[in-house]
Amino acid sequence: MIESHPEESHPEQYSDWARLEIRKRIHTDYSKIGHNLYELAHSLLDLRPNDDVLDVGCGLGDFLTMIRTRGHLGTLCGVDQSPEVIEEARDRAGELAPSIDFKVRPADALRFPGSSFNCVTALHVLGHSKPGRILRELGRVIKADGRVVISTNSRMSFPLLEELKNRARQRFGWFLASEWTEGFDSESAPELLRRYYGEVKEFRYDDVLQYPDAEVLVDFFRSTRGLWSDGLTSAEWERIVDWAREQALELIPEHGYAEDPKSFSLFRCTAPLGL
Ligand SMILES: C[S@@+](CC[C@H](N)C(=O)[O-])C[C@H]1O[C@@H](n2cnc3c(N)ncnc32)[C@H](O)[C@@H]1O
Repeated sequence: MIESHPEESHPEQYSDWARLEIRKRIHTDYSKIGHNLYELAHSLLDLRPNDDVLDVGCGLGDFLTMIRTRGHLGTLCGVDQSPEVIEEARDRAGELAPSIDFKVRPADALRFPGSSFNCVTALHVLGHSKPGRILRELGRVIKADGRVVISTNSRMSFPLLEELKNRARQRFGWFLASEWTEGFDSESAPELLRRYYGEVKEFRYDDVLQYPDAEVLVDFFRSTRGLWSDGLTSAEWERIVDWAREQALELIPEHGYAEDPKSFSLFRCTAPLGL
């Protein structure tokens, strides 16, 4: 078991946004079908030109910049818990930045007045946090006739990546920093969402990641750094990644190729119950 030395630990070698970028690149470059999450969410929102939109866990801001680029007139607001991610989102928005209100805020304490937004999105966010508290907060800020679109992965996704994570967990006795997650996935979401919304419609999409070699799986593993103990030093983390590379080569032999199935769902939620 790797001992943690908080006093020695220094900032991770890869910032939050760099890891997010790695994951996005893997999905863009290696998905067989390549469903576009932002296009799908956009079509489910039925946006009217002056709608006020909040994107919770907005990451690098791509969804909101896409909407603004298409001429949306209403307020666009993006919140994320990570200051680094928000700073990067502002940089990337470039000349559109003044027209998008990016803020550092936790999803379960948004601090907007009640019924502020016509549309709220939370795309691949609730799996990282306490979904019940966040859903209550989204239900508070959405207008009574508003639309909420939430996406998450199926728990059946990425069996190869999961195998690698499980082996690491067994080998190093790590704990997941996100042990506080309540497992919000395609399978568990419908029951939870129906506690907060009168109408919930699910749209499910299947795809597969095609790894041309083991190194892409190693990159994917590396991008999960935020899930693991903060107490590891960079040197310890790099040793673990090297170990993961050996394991990945067992799963995908050199010059090999492998497929990792993935599925995700979008939920269109209306009629907030206002709990
Ligand atoms: C997988 S990324 C998705 C980013 C973006 N929604 C997208 O689809 O491109 C998850 C994002 O949610 C943010 N996040 C996770 N839990 C959060 C919370 N409790 N409050 C605010 N942001 C959160 C993370 O910092 C990260 O930027």
